[in-house]
Amino acid sequence: MSTLLTELQILAIQLRILPTQINIMADKFSQAILDGLEKKRSPLKMLPSYLSTPSRKEVGTFLALDFGGTNVRVLLTQLLGQGHYRVHSRVASPLHDIDNHYNYITDQSTADQLFDFIALKIGTIVKPDTRYLLGHTFSFPTHQTSLNTGTLIHWTKEIETTGMEGKDITQLLTAALSRNGLTNVLPQAIINDTVGTLLTAAYMNQSTRIGSICGTGHNTAYLEPSSPLTKAPMIINLESGNFDQLPFTSYDIQLDANSETPGAQPLEKMVSGHYIGELVRLIACNLFDAGLLATSSGRNILTTPYLLNGAHISLLQEDDTGELVIINHWLEDSLHITNSSIEDRNVLKTIATLICTRSARLVAATYLGIIKHIDPHLEHSHNIAIDGSLYEKMPGYAQDIQLTLDQALADTAAIATTTLTKDGSGVGAAIATAIAVNTKS
Ligand code: GLC
Repeated sequence: MSTLLTELQILAIQLRILPTQINIMADKFSQAILDGLEKKRSPLKMLPSYLSTPSRKEVGTFLALDFGGTNVRVLLTQLLGQGHYRVHSRVASPLHDIDNHYNYITDQSTADQLFDFIALKIGTIVKPDTRYLLGHTFSFPTHQTSLNTGTLIHWTKEIETTGMEGKDITQLLTAALSRNGLTNVLPQAIINDTVGTLLTAAYMNQSTRIGSICGTGHNTAYLEPSSPLTKAPMIINLESGNFDQLPFTSYDIQLDANSETPGAQPLEKMVSGHYIGELVRLIACNLFDAGLLATSSGRNILTTPYLLNGAHISLLQEDDTGELVIINHWLEDSLHITNSSIEDRNVLKTIATLICTRSARLVAATYLGIIKHIDPHLEHSHNIAIDGSLYEKMPGYAQDIQLTLDQALADTAAIATTTLTKDGSGVGAAIATAIAVNTKS
């Protein structure tokens, strides 16, 4: 019979991403970029944004709407030029609120209901007699034919609102604004959050060419030096969460099979905040079933899918008290798992660390793939702008990404750094709007 220690050792091997694998993955990712650009079959959607990096002279006050799937935020943002900005007012609301009895992200909600809710939020921030130009950060795969048109290809991150896939999101928003008497609010641009992060970082530091989100979802955008559409530089949304040439474990396969969209977003399901808690749960259940965890009250409770979220995984890793008392309190208070043994708590912490380290290394491999594409001789410096809860808050996550990049580029002249770029969705939408206005005039 296998012991707990042996099982954990096996798990560590299954979840380990070796330096050679990083390089192989990066090369496959670079190839997928090329295939996508050439319209060959590729897991990367390579969606054009109709934007290049900003001139940094963009100024003006704009409304930014940020729809990422968990919350909706509206911000009145003033761009001051050269990387400076001020947020004058903001409102934010969850899209799913049990206490207030609404949920706009299930298949029980329609596009019109969702956009009426969004229009209501916009209405709380705008004055009736003022004209507002609005930029919309819509963080889902969107097929754009111009800066202000975008058709939702399909939902990701388990969102299910009906009547949106295949529809032009700007038209849905404009119709809702009109239904709600907000004809003074004029949508000018729709962008992905990765594009917003890149725009914001490049507004501050012109050399930034890569923007990424490591949060509830995962995705990256980069500045393609020669876009197939214009032969000029254009920011491309990779939708890298759909990358699929990866070392899957049985847990990844199980998670995917039980998800809303089996087969879709394989990388995102291995790395992002929406899924890492579920991976930890599946592994813990497996150890329970093998009789290797002792806390009897835990098994039944752990049967609930998506019981664990990204914040729980952070907590598991943060607890450095000898007896893991913080984890113990959380298990008791939030999950009603009583009398957990220190050994079991340590196991949960170990699993969380293994899953997070794997996540950071896989993500870093995709960054390396982009760097190899834009700098084939690996001779330049690259700054990767990143936003999202994993990168910002998960203990050790940012360091693991940096370490992986440093190791992979050690024998080259290239350097890769990563920087936290906050407010990318709100400020990026304002920058995109300023660019739209400048292009028209
Ligand atoms: C999902 C979406 C993508 C978004 C990412 C981060 O992967 O498909 O568009 O950028 O989440 O929010």
